Amino acid sequence: MVNSKIAGIGFYVPEQVVTNADLMKVMDTSDEWIQERSGIKERRYGKKHEETPTTMAANAAKIACERAGIKPEEIDFIVFATLSPDYYFPGCGVLLQRELGITHKEMGAIDIRNQCSGFIYSLSVADQFIKSGMYKNILVVGSEMHSMGLDFTTRGRNVAVLFGDGAGAVVLQPTTEEGKGILTTHLHSDGTYAEELALISPGSHGGKHLGKEQFGFPEALYGEIFVYENLIENKTYYPNMNGQLVFKTAVTKFPEVIMEALNKVGMTPVDIDLLVPHQANLRIAQFVQKTLRLPDDKVYNNIMKYGNTTAASIPIALCEAWEAGKVKDGDLVCLAAFGSGFTWGSALIRW
Ligand code: UT7
Repeated sequence: MVNSKIAGIGFYVPEQVVTNADLMKVMDTSDEWIQERSGIKERRYGKKHEETPTTMAANAAKIACERAGIKPEEIDFIVFATLSPDYYFPGCGVLLQRELGITHKEMGAIDIRNQCSGFIYSLSVADQFIKSGMYKNILVVGSEMHSMGLDFTTRGRNVAVLFGDGAGAVVLQPTTEEGKGILTTHLHSDGTYAEELALISPGSHGGKHLGKEQFGFPEALYGEIFVYENLIENKTYYPNMNGQLVFKTAVTKFPEVIMEALNKVGMTPVDIDLLVPHQANLRIAQFVQKTLRLPDDKVYNNIMKYGNTTAASIPIALCEAWEAGKVKDGDLVCLAAFGSGFTWGSALIRW
């Protein structure tokens, strides 16, 4: 039986370090509040007008390809997860293809817009393509440049302090080694709370589903009125988040989806060698760790250094853990994520 394995992994974070003290200069916040609520000490911001989600992804992808022992032009499919794409369209997949100089005609590329769970969704999509025999070298990337689109005034502080920029990439290849590679993936969604963690403009929603009072929509919407009321006055071009609802739902869904994956392969939490949760909030990760009764050395967190990098957080953390020797041959690695949508998912990998 063919499974997919991670043949190479890489990550890239921009040089510029932004501390909590730096954010205190532009908004009413404190190092104490940020660390106490989220665990974040600092994050990275990309170089404006030079770096983009695509260029950062290319940096991570080149490392992943080198470690997989292939040249970028040997990639036959790209799955690109991001919520902060270079353009509204086309997607980052084709931009990354161009950035990597991949020109052969068998090539295909898609974008996955599943925010925090984007990397797990992407991995699962790529896994199906490998298992079906359709592709042999799939580049799966998560990359975000949040710093270009956050509200850095006090109004946006509940969101702005949490997010950072970065990219992570893996090369997926088929393996016939018994019991190795991606063992199972689980994807879930519930659109009930779509607007509770969202960036709604630009969009074609015309105010549907959104409280008129909350967002100030007029009855009839003409282009200019819509742009003015919605975008300018209500700043709907910035992400908004009902933090407490997200937190409460996340701490339930994380353990649930991890247990679902373990049950599928007849294992229990004690079999996990390393859990790499999406880096949304250190408190969420600690809650999940406690629920599953995992010791500290079996959970990898790096949100302290990078903040929440959404679709990039899992591949960045996984790569950092691998580089630190925390992911060894034969280890059972569990990935899990929850976020906007709501969407959530998990993957179990025998390294
Ligand atoms: O990737 C997945 C997406 N995101 C998440 O998973 C995030 C999940 N949620 C969370 O992590 C937490 O809800 C937050 C860290 C976002 C917020 O923590 P909280 O304990 O839920 O705080 P809160 O939103 O209830 O706000 C408490 C207070 C409020 O002031 P009042 O109304 O009590 O006077 C906020 O205005 O903290 C205030 N506040 C801040 N104060 C200083 C909100 N943001 C900040 C800030 N600095 N940055």
